[in-house]
Amino acid sequence: MLQMGPPRNDQNRLCNRAIESEESGDLEAAATLYRKGIACDESNPTPYLYLGYLLERLEQHDAALQAWSLGADLDPRMINAWRSPGIATDIQLRSKAANDAVRRHFTDLHRTSIAEYQKQHPKANIDRIAAAIWCQTHDSDFNYNDPRHKPHVFFVPDLDPIAVYGSQHMPWQGILEAAADEIREEFLVAREQAADEEKPYLEPKAAGLGAGWKSIADSLNWGTFQLYKQGVANERLLKRFPATLAALRSIPVLTTASGPREVLFSVLRGGQRIPPHFGVANTDMTVHMPIITTEQSAIRVVDDTYEWQFGQVFSFDDAFDHESWNDSDEERVNLLFEAWHPGLTEHEKGAVAASFDLRESWNQLRSI
Ligand SMILES: [Fe+2]
Repeated sequence: MLQMGPPRNDQNRLCNRAIESEESGDLEAAATLYRKGIACDESNPTPYLYLGYLLERLEQHDAALQAWSLGADLDPRMINAWRSPGIATDIQLRSKAANDAVRRHFTDLHRTSIAEYQKQHPKANIDRIAAAIWCQTHDSDFNYNDPRHKPHVFFVPDLDPIAVYGSQHMPWQGILEAAADEIREEFLVAREQAADEEKPYLEPKAAGLGAGWKSIADSLNWGTFQLYKQGVANERLLKRFPATLAALRSIPVLTTASGPREVLFSVLRGGQRIPPHFGVANTDMTVHMPIITTEQSAIRVVDDTYEWQFGQVFSFDDAFDHESWNDSDEERVNLLFEAWHPGLTEHEKGAVAASFDLRESWNQLRSI
């Protein structure tokens, strides 16, 4: 990260020429060269950092933001590198500029979404959502309330923290559990007939999270059949799960503008562990219903460990410290989806969804 050295030779060559052009004052030529450099390897955040700074000099503020934001998605350290002692002056300068612009932009975007929602619903009390923090891009320092509860993307500080939900929070629990046999059957048939729909749960870059993640990153050691992914339906799979979808219709599943955000089957193969981590947001509960279970397969949430039981719903706030493992030789399969935190009002859910949707629609329009 943040190196212009080998082995990306073509990219280095183009970016070094871009820097020369920039230093000689030919900013347009430099922009073209940075863009060509990015095209050589779109996974390296450094050229995005340089391009963004150059576009800012050209007073193309929105284009600069887009370049920086795309780079920060590749590696959030891009906007935080300026804090590191001993960082090269040039990187420090550019990283600080990116940091300020990206944080200002996304914090403003959240405020805009809240103001819009309030305008449409003048009587709604959405103060708790107005005070929410987009953790990676908030424009000022903040503290979590509890070191064991640290959503890494979206945090509503005033929402009751509930680590593991009880049946009083899930009036729909019985409906889902009654469908467990049918859901298992649908899964077994789908896997038999559409095995190629199984994908690694984690992207390759998850390997960079540390040694404990290597065996499950970009691997079917932790696989998934994803019915909905970030609000996008997999129609080929959906038609195979009528009973599953019918059961989900009675549940306040977390949705985006286009549909449920995540509905999937999580397949953790024998001998695999998911290291301790914190989830995305504290506004939802992560719901598991095991449909294929084995011995020595469990989840830990904060201080307590829970063994998976076939057909028994287990819901928790994954923004709490948690880890999961399967120490048997067999696979473990859970239906997994997100439902809203039961303490949110309908207007608060609407305001959360509006903030996510506005951010996502801005993100979708980014380009370099
Ligand atoms: Fe998790």
